[in-house]
Amino acid sequence: SKPRVLVARAIFPEIIAKLEQHFDLETNQPDEDMSGTRLIDKLRDKDGAFTTGSVRIDKTVLQACPRLKICANMAVGYNNFDLDAMTAHGVLGTNTPDVLTDTTADFGFALLMATARRIAESEHYLRAGKWHKWAYDMFAGADIHGSTLGILGMGRIGQGIAKRGAHGFGMKVIYHNRSRLDAAMESECKARYVGKEELLKTADHLVLVLPYSKESHHIIGAAELALMKPTATLVNIARGGIVDENALVQALRKGSQGGGIAAAGLDVFEGEPKVNPELLTVPNVVLTPHIASASVPTRRAMAELAADNLIAYFQTGKAITPLN
Ligand code: GLV
Ligand code: GLV
Repeated sequence: SKPRVLVARAIFPEIIAKLEQHFDLETNQPDEDMSGTRLIDKLRDKDGAFTTGSVRIDKTVLQACPRLKICANMAVGYNNFDLDAMTAHGVLGTNTPDVLTDTTADFGFALLMATARRIAESEHYLRAGKWHKWAYDMFAGADIHGSTLGILGMGRIGQGIAKRGAHGFGMKVIYHNRSRLDAAMESECKARYVGKEELLKTADHLVLVLPYSKESHHIIGAAELALMKPTATLVNIARGGIVDENALVQALRKGSQGGGIAAAGLDVFEGEPKVNPELLTVPNVVLTPHIASASVPTRRAMAELAADNLIAYFQTGKAITPLN
């Protein structure tokens, strides 16, 4: 008989059709909340799961689901997995690297530009009927070309952002990462390795693209924000928990005049999809609902890769992009 697989969230109908050829499939096309006891009820008798970042696979779930062998995450990040516990329970995790790199780097750059050039704020102003005349300082922001781009977390997506900045916009690129790139990659990205403090002090625009873990929790807090230039912008396309949002709200309220920072662009939030209500009251922040990988072709490619991981694993015992 076919392996039993839960597709925990709504997904492209073609992906459901493909998975149905291989598995005894339970789907969630109405996209009901899939956490707590509902997740356990649905997953208890399954051999595999197609998950997204909002589906938490932790010790409680693993203990309640002894048949489970694989969870295929449709995301490059996998902080929704307790990977150590999965390994201990003999459960394989997979993610979707590479297929989303360029789309996500494009978005990181788009959010940087929207933030530095105040695109969202000025668009709201126009829609609200407040635009009555041109003014010399109206929505005057920071330049992108020729400025210094700082990147914290220099994986595939960070490298993609570096290349866009260096080659497309003539930016000086500096980065900090746990490990340094090799010389060839540094030269391809035109990126210079610096310490974290120098990165914070020197960047005109700082983009966060590092994985979320205990070590990166609140890695940007009040002390780090205080080191940044008052004219700087901060962009987070990684995970919300990397930034202390309350400290960020304070820095944005102070702004460039008051010793804070000029602006921020956030695609991810600590308690998403709930957004800290304080952030909603700050004008100099661009807020998007975790859509950095959301181009139609890339979301399809991510879903295909997650599905192919399940199919490959049950056919051959090996997944395409395993995590553990
Ligand atoms: C999105 O945040 C992802 O990790 O793919
Ligand atoms: C502004 O609209 C300009 O023409 O400089």
